[in-house]
Amino acid sequence: MTIDEQMQKEFNDWAAAGRGEEMERHHASIVEQTLRLMELRPGERVLDMGCGAGWASRILARMVGDGPQGHGQVIGVDISDEMIRRARAGSTDFENVMFVWGSAHQVPWEENFFDKVLSVESFYYYADQDRAAHELFRVMAPKGRLFILINLYKENPYSLRWVEELKVPVQARSEQEYVELLRAHAFENVEARHVPDLSPTPDEYSGKWFKDSAELRAFKKIGALLVTAEKPNVRSTAPPYQIC
Ligand SMILES: C[S@@+](CC[C@H](N)C(=O)[O-])C[C@H]1O[C@@H](n2cnc3c(N)ncnc32)[C@H](O)[C@@H]1O
Repeated sequence: MTIDEQMQKEFNDWAAAGRGEEMERHHASIVEQTLRLMELRPGERVLDMGCGAGWASRILARMVGDGPQGHGQVIGVDISDEMIRRARAGSTDFENVMFVWGSAHQVPWEENFFDKVLSVESFYYYADQDRAAHELFRVMAPKGRLFILINLYKENPYSLRWVEELKVPVQARSEQEYVELLRAHAFENVEARHVPDLSPTPDEYSGKWFKDSAELRAFKKIGALLVTAEKPNVRSTAPPYQIC
């Protein structure tokens, strides 16, 4: 089984257990802060990479929908066909969002298309992050902007424990390594910052990821890593492989 196939199986199980929809509650605070930084405008084309059950794609779709500048659209891509199915089922009222099954390792879309790319809590699952960075660069429009938001990275020690717990392999890189990765792929204005999770923390914690609520609070205070970058004003050429 390839790593993409392993990922698909694992996240199909997550989707079947209803965890795709649950993630909205866990990621809402950090995503809300990121959306403000994205300066979304009606008419823009946005990719939600690793969209899961599609809740963030729907927020994006509302933000870029009808306006004087045109009718924006959002494409959600995910390796789990079950997540894609649920994302579609939850978005029947939307005309400007579409969900496509595919991998970040071979983004099923054309070159130079997206004005903005958001990827929430997904990038550390990509077995070949170099390949994913290359693919995101390819599908982004000249001057397009990239927003990678992740909770698992070296500077948040609480999240590193997940590496052992998760059933699939993940990448645990540092802020600086992410910055260097994107620079190596010709992205410009690469910056990293922390986004604290501002949601209230209950006094009792009964989940499996943290020892107690004090630890959860400490994890949320360090916050997620947001890496932002811009594609220079260049057009990418079509790849030698076929996009399926
Ligand atoms: C923790 S979930 C986050 C989902 C969603 N962004 C959210 O915040 O609710 C990670 C998602 O990344 C997807 N994923 C993992 N590897 C992927 C890959 N190589 N290409 C595309 N999606 C991938 C998984 O299927 C899963 O839906």
